[in-house]
Amino acid sequence: MIVEHNVPLQPHNSFGIVARAHSLVRIAGEADVAALLADARWHAAPKFVLGGGSNIVLTGDVKSLVLKVEIMGRRLVEETPRAWILEAGAGETWHDVVRWTLEEGYPGLENMALIPGTVGGAPVQNIGAYGVELQDRFESLDAIDLVTGRSFMLDAAQCAFGYRDSVFKHAAGGPNDFGLAGRALITRVRLRLPRPWKPVLGYLDLERKMAETGIHAPSAQQIFDWVCAVRTAKLPDWRVLGNAGSFFKNPTVTPEQCADIIARDPKIVHYPMADGSIKLAAGWLIDACGWKGKTMGNAGVYEKQALVLVNRGGKAHPATGGEVMTLAKAIQTSVYERFGIRLEPEPVVV
Ligand code: EPU
Repeated sequence: MIVEHNVPLQPHNSFGIVARAHSLVRIAGEADVAALLADARWHAAPKFVLGGGSNIVLTGDVKSLVLKVEIMGRRLVEETPRAWILEAGAGETWHDVVRWTLEEGYPGLENMALIPGTVGGAPVQNIGAYGVELQDRFESLDAIDLVTGRSFMLDAAQCAFGYRDSVFKHAAGGPNDFGLAGRALITRVRLRLPRPWKPVLGYLDLERKMAETGIHAPSAQQIFDWVCAVRTAKLPDWRVLGNAGSFFKNPTVTPEQCADIIARDPKIVHYPMADGSIKLAAGWLIDACGWKGKTMGNAGVYEKQALVLVNRGGKAHPATGGEVMTLAKAIQTSVYERFGIRLEPEPVVV
């Protein structure tokens, strides 16, 4: 086990923010965690688990010991008439795993193609896109308790998945003491891909692709290609323009609140949810407040998708986490003043 000191984190966060880890240790397997916890210097130290860094805003150097998860491996665990069960190491790149499943003949993850980040980050955020969320394809995961060193397994219910939310985003000590943030390190994730495969095509962007191409019964590979094309056209590549994907969650309101807003802004983009609430497009709200393409300091609002905040300073003069958060707060204030809606950030602010 090698603990590195004063490690630059700019290459390890998709915003490209400059910050350092006071100490960082790479975790390639369960044994590395065991060695770390057996070491008196690190046993009780506060710890921060870092996956792909695609959903974080670093607002300063990280004083907690950073555990950089690099656990690899992909395998078919089980094949039944009803599902393929697959397992991947938490350090695997999510998109590479999606591509691999299709190459191997296990369809089901194609709508979630090209989502940045690692397999271990996927359940934390309950990633989702184009009508499918991780929880729809989740079987179970293995994790290690960073306090006791014990390994444990969680099923979907125990992960408490919500919209871009899970038990891993909540600190312990909250209501019912249910949070695992900073406490659990995810080592492996198992996915359940239902058989027979059924395409998920309800999302507007995919309906457009069907109309454009005349293909009404696309294969999983075709959907994968469409999703990649839509994402590439709409979302910036973080390797070129630093970002953390959608910066805010899409808010939900009551039908009464929505009717009130429609009376003032008839064009508002909204979707009815199964529970009777209405989901509003945060990108539309931000766009309507005139933020698209705006810049504050070195942080900006992407010109093709107002929900994405970007680092306009490149690698040489990157935005600071403070600049990103100042821009985020200004956006929250103007959306609140115009619509009475409080936008909630999606990334984890460190
Ligand atoms: N819109 C605007 N102006 C904008 C941006 C969006 O008017 O600047 C409108 C669009 O025209 C559309 C609606 O808002 O009618 C929704 O936009 P889009 O289809 O791009 O999806 P989104 O709600 O902005 C969500 C997820 C994305 C995911 C896509 C596709 C959240 C916070 N974001 O974005 O996830 O890829 O749907 O499923 O739920 C992420 O979480 O990082 C992410 C990229």
